[in-house]
Amino acid sequence: MTRSYILHMFTPGRQMSPFDVNMAIDAGYDMAIPYCDVDTKNIGAMTQDAIFSRGPKSVAHTGIFIGGRDVVQAAEMLALARKAMVPPFEVSVCADPSGSYTTAAALVATVERQLRKAHQTDFAGRRVLVVGGSGAVGRIAGALASQLGAQVWLSNRSGSEAAARLSEETNRCFNALTEGVVIRNSTELQSVLADTDIVLATASAGVQVVGEAERSSARKLLVAADVNAVPPAGIEGVGVMDDGKRIGSSDAVGIGALAIGNVKYQVQHRLFKRMREAGKPVYLGFEEAMAMAREVVAELG
Ligand SMILES: NC(=O)c1ccc[n+]([C@@H]2O[C@H](COP(=O)([O-])OP(=O)(O)OC[C@H]3O[C@@H](n4cnc5c(N)ncnc54)[C@H](OP(=O)(O)O)[C@@H]3O)[C@@H](O)[C@H]2O)c1
Repeated sequence: MTRSYILHMFTPGRQMSPFDVNMAIDAGYDMAIPYCDVDTKNIGAMTQDAIFSRGPKSVAHTGIFIGGRDVVQAAEMLALARKAMVPPFEVSVCADPSGSYTTAAALVATVERQLRKAHQTDFAGRRVLVVGGSGAVGRIAGALASQLGAQVWLSNRSGSEAAARLSEETNRCFNALTEGVVIRNSTELQSVLADTDIVLATASAGVQVVGEAERSSARKLLVAADVNAVPPAGIEGVGVMDDGKRIGSSDAVGIGALAIGNVKYQVQHRLFKRMREAGKPVYLGFEEAMAMAREVVAELG
């Protein structure tokens, strides 16, 4: 009997992302079935409902995807789904809430590539500012840069208490060492940028967070990367297609949203394929996304 590849797609929210459904089908799943209202309370039961009916031989033919918008909740759900497995009844699980794990991995891997190519250096000891550091992509990008040895500021507009709480939670949940920084206006941004080697713009789509004047105040800047593909650019002077293009007359190079998006697409596609082809259960979170992003980026040369 030929068995279909089935992906059960769980989200705590009201709907599963059509982006993720498309990605799953394009990566070879025959069926991608969305379930809403699945969170830490019921993911164990939902996982066990998914694993028993097809028998241990169909392990590679059944998978679970965890979406939603909350990076911490998704990490908890991934751990709980894994705990609910009853070997040999065990299937692969991948989490990518709001596309943040794969986008952040693509962002950090493309920056790492340009640090090496344009400046013969890496993240170790570098000062990284994540503008939009309270969002899903920003928190994970900050955690990944920190794991690579950078000193990371996660920016926040809500005040010092919120900034500290968010970076503490990010550090605890994602094995990182970031610091929160409050940036509410251009003067505060310029003051932090003066000490910044790498700026990552991860704020909401369609919002410019670093203008020309602010970027010019970043005299030590090596790389400026922007994940926002919706005009205006998140960082003025960085085009969506840029991948290592010098910014103005500075030594800094820019990376735009579509250059990052191309890597993100490949990372998510390959993670889904890996779930189907591994032959044994795999558990894929933000660290596995980072390893995959480095693989994809290495192929770019
Ligand atoms: N290129 C790709 O492949 C790709 C893939 C996925 C997502 N994205 C992009 O990645 C970005 C981040 O996604 P997300 O889901 O993490 O975003 P999000 O949750 O919508 O926003 C991230 C943060 O942006 C901050 N923000 C909003 N307006 C701001 C402003 N004027 N100044 C400073 N900060 C501001 C918010 O912080 P507060 O807490 O201060 O409000 C929010 O926490 C989006 O632009 C999205 O389109 C790109």
